[in-house]
Amino acid sequence: MSEERFEALLEETRLFQPPEEFKAQANVASTDVYREAEEDRLGFWAKQAERITWFEPWKEVLDWQPPFAKWFVDGKLNASYNCLDRHLSGWRRNKAALVFEGEPGDSRVLTYQDLHREVSQFANVLKSLGVRKGDRVTIYLPMIPEAAIAMLACARVGAPHSVVFGGFSAESLRDRINDSQAKVLVTSDGSYRRGNIVPLKANADVALQGSDSIEHVVVVKRTGTDVNMQEDRDIWYHEAMQKASAKCEAESMDAEDALYILYTSGTTGKPKGVVHTTGGYMVGVSATHSMIFDIKDEDVFWCTADVGWVTGHSYIVYGPLANGSTVIMYEGAPDYPAKDRFWQIIEKYRVTILYTAPTSIRTFMKWGPSYPQRRDLSSLRLLGTVGEPINPEAWMWYYKYIGGEKCPIVDTWWQTETGMIMMTPLPGITALKPGSCTVPFPGIVVQVVDKGGNPVPKGSGGYLTVREPWPAMLRTIYGDPDRYASTYYGTWPGVYFTGDGAKWDEDGYFWVLGRVDDVINVSGHRIGTMEVESALVDHPSVAEAACIGKTHEVKGQAVSAFVTLKESVEVTDGLVDELKAHVATKIGALARPDDIFFTAELPKTRSGKIMRRLLRDIAEGRALGDTTTLADASVVNSLKEQYKDEA
Ligand code: WTA
Repeated sequence: MSEERFEALLEETRLFQPPEEFKAQANVASTDVYREAEEDRLGFWAKQAERITWFEPWKEVLDWQPPFAKWFVDGKLNASYNCLDRHLSGWRRNKAALVFEGEPGDSRVLTYQDLHREVSQFANVLKSLGVRKGDRVTIYLPMIPEAAIAMLACARVGAPHSVVFGGFSAESLRDRINDSQAKVLVTSDGSYRRGNIVPLKANADVALQGSDSIEHVVVVKRTGTDVNMQEDRDIWYHEAMQKASAKCEAESMDAEDALYILYTSGTTGKPKGVVHTTGGYMVGVSATHSMIFDIKDEDVFWCTADVGWVTGHSYIVYGPLANGSTVIMYEGAPDYPAKDRFWQIIEKYRVTILYTAPTSIRTFMKWGPSYPQRRDLSSLRLLGTVGEPINPEAWMWYYKYIGGEKCPIVDTWWQTETGMIMMTPLPGITALKPGSCTVPFPGIVVQVVDKGGNPVPKGSGGYLTVREPWPAMLRTIYGDPDRYASTYYGTWPGVYFTGDGAKWDEDGYFWVLGRVDDVINVSGHRIGTMEVESALVDHPSVAEAACIGKTHEVKGQAVSAFVTLKESVEVTDGLVDELKAHVATKIGALARPDDIFFTAELPKTRSGKIMRRLLRDIAEGRALGDTTTLADASVVNSLKEQYKDEA
């Protein structure tokens, strides 16, 4: 987001107080919670830990040896037990846990008892395949109940899962399998997307050439697509489940045992395996889910994220199920078969809380209000957003057309690394400003600092940091604690650097501006510029590439690539499409550049560093800033000319 845009945001004066009716019934109805957490931060988290069922009590809230934290020291628990078993003794046993809506229109409801049975059976399947506590399992599935079942089954046996988003390519899947050295892969024959079938098993087969850690592949039949089943390696999920017992004790895990690994993009080409552990994570996600979404037993909660992302981990699976909620899980696209699919689902299941992304809201805005207007959305009582800054216009549209001007909106800022929501309104007490994620959650200490790490005064901006550890924080990068320390705690000692820029205003409200590092946020998905650049350079025609995130009306940011070709290569009509397709094959469709520009040289500093900020200015048609460090000024002029012609 540009500086001018931000100044406009700061002039945003609209303020929305919590509706009286909402406040009267809210889980958190008094601002005392902030004061209490401020006076005794660890005491606040200790109190939140009571939400979780511990097999053995913890001895100490926090052991902090910067940058390494241990939360709820020596506590023993199991995440799957907390999400399932403990709900079975009372009436919740027969409450809907997962309500699944398939893209073709099929649906399935699993009660807590059903889910417990299937998870226990699949945990036994995993055990029969040799999976033991500590072994890694990769999950490459569509948004079907088996994704949640597989995750919880891993948690049950104590095997950290690594979920890989179904939209990632074979090569991305392979990298993630190899990095975690997973023993078992769970996938499906295919996945539905806008009426087409994405061949997940075929992708998995390609991924497994060049990977030798996987001993078995479990294949869920979803689409009926023909697949190759390799003898001795591949088994069908439904066949294995038929034979599996539904009795499986949940393994007692240490609070600090890994619950999962989730790969995310950073500033280098290699995705980072963010490690989340069990105790603090479960406390963090259940507390935030309950307090921020004001969860009641009658609620029908719908988080539209894919389980391949952290939002799906924390707010489809672990948070809501720990809280005994009813969760909607939708497999497909928002415009299939028609552009009112989301609103049809809300009407069908009487959804009360909707949690989605600004990019989706902007898409709905583009389609126009007639789609939500033809459905009954009166069941909604609270809305949420996550993934990127929301522009006030989109916020207002969401408020008016989806929330009927009666639902508070919780704009939640957080990251794969934070595991849980970190800045957000509490809907019964926080006045809302469209475009601001408002204030830190109780017990979270956030600060905007300058380059030297000094806090900036209210009304100004800088780098967004977190001063104190929090329960659901990542513990390390899988297999690379040094990278963990340097990436997050290397800039200012003992202080977590988010990679985001932000300002805080006179009221102490935070306005997140976006990434200040080499990460592009496309439709709320993090893509490293280095990853796309490596994919481009991998093409035989490309000598060098530089990518930037260009402001995009719907996606927030889009990938723009600047490419220099090898000496003998001619620019042909098909080359641009070929390069775009190459990136999609290497990484996944989400990384496909919107535009590619050929240039004889890339603008570099005299020390050889590509000046991405300059490329961004060119791509967005802005006046160029300081170019005195540029090695060859003519490069920029020729690029500017080209951009004028082509963009
Ligand atoms: C951005 C997604 C502004 C931010 C949970 C962050 C946001 C990155 C917001 C993390 C928000 C997420 N307002 N920006 N409400 N939520 N972001 O790891 O740049 O996929 O660093 O986690 O998304 O993306 P990630």
